Amino acid sequence: MNRVKEIRKEREISQETLARYVTISRKYLSIIEHQQATPSISIAMKISKALGVSVDKIFLDLSSAEMPIYPKPIRFIDLFCGIGGFRYASQYAFNKLGLEGRCVFSSDIDKYVQKSYEANFGEKPAGDITKIDASEIPNFDILFGGFPCQAFSICGLQKGFADNTRGTLFFDIARILKEKQPQMFVLENVKNLVNHDNGKTMKIILEVLRDELGYHVDYKLLNALDFGLPQKRERIIIIGSKKPFFMDWNFDVKEKKTLDNILEKNVDKKHYASSEIVAKRKAKHTASVYPSIWHENKSGNISSYPYSCALRAGASYNYLLVNGERRLTPREMLRLQGFPDSFKIVVSDTQTRKQAGNAIPVDMVERVIEKFLPLAF
Ligand SMILES: C[S@@+](CC[C@H](N)C(=O)[O-])C[C@H]1O[C@@H](n2cnc3c(N)ncnc32)[C@H](O)[C@@H]1O
Repeated sequence: MNRVKEIRKEREISQETLARYVTISRKYLSIIEHQQATPSISIAMKISKALGVSVDKIFLDLSSAEMPIYPKPIRFIDLFCGIGGFRYASQYAFNKLGLEGRCVFSSDIDKYVQKSYEANFGEKPAGDITKIDASEIPNFDILFGGFPCQAFSICGLQKGFADNTRGTLFFDIARILKEKQPQMFVLENVKNLVNHDNGKTMKIILEVLRDELGYHVDYKLLNALDFGLPQKRERIIIIGSKKPFFMDWNFDVKEKKTLDNILEKNVDKKHYASSEIVAKRKAKHTASVYPSIWHENKSGNISSYPYSCALRAGASYNYLLVNGERRLTPREMLRLQGFPDSFKIVVSDTQTRKQAGNAIPVDMVERVIEKFLPLAF
């Protein structure tokens, strides 16, 4: 008797994906799963690595199979918290998994962000993380953080992450991980992180996380559009655990929100572009779908889609126009990022636009956390 099928299903890994990873045919995997063959030691080892469960627990010791053991509650910290994209996502994932999660620390340097976060989660985030010693942070099990992408100026000759990354906000993540040793982390960054500084930035990040801090790490470029949100927003998600794991990055998302679900019906006049701007856009472009969001790129070309291009914190005012006529309202922007309508808007339109533009798509990271948690503990 082996537990390959049972554990594979628990991990939501398809037979095809596991077979490809182990480099055996799907048919042979199926034979193993039906207890009709005993695999060689090397194949058993590969299966064990892919499933993140030791060989003996899959093939020998059936009585004490390695099931995730979660702390109760699971304590997490929300670094570079913004308006709490990770907080919502993790809460939804904990609920789905029947787990209790508790945020024990949050930090963001921006006073308007702190105001929004406090109004919605009842606690004011601590400020500048570079000024906070890791010993001041309570112990925790998971670190979440969408950190700004910065070049590491000194590298190559120096030894250790402190020398290689000092002065960047990744350094602060690394020093907190080093001191607090949580079981798991999920980090988020812009798509460009992998090409940044000719790939050097990402290389150092992975080396620090893997070689210096001893985490098992994987990463993937994901798009909010594939997670049911009508926004093309590509982000790198980096996940890590103390335990070896195999993450299947395929997600089966059935429920999709459309622009019709996002757009408000009665929109204040202040959100409309001037008649000159609207006329100029309409002279240049005709949309083939309705409703649509019109996007003007840097060279002034207009395109339109039944979804939004990525919201950006510092974008020009009319960069995105609904049906070529009006800007998105703060509520619509929050919806495009997967924030619930219960999210209280307590700052100006300008600040909310910036905050929504910086946020992480909740639906996307929720699915990642939901799948990764059982692999990480
Ligand atoms: C990309 S946003 C993260 C948004 C967040 N994931 C969300 O869902 O809203 C990065 C955040 O880092 C914050 N930040 C930048 N420098 C910081 C520092 N030194 N200490 C704490 N927060 C900082 C910014 O104010 C910004 O809100």
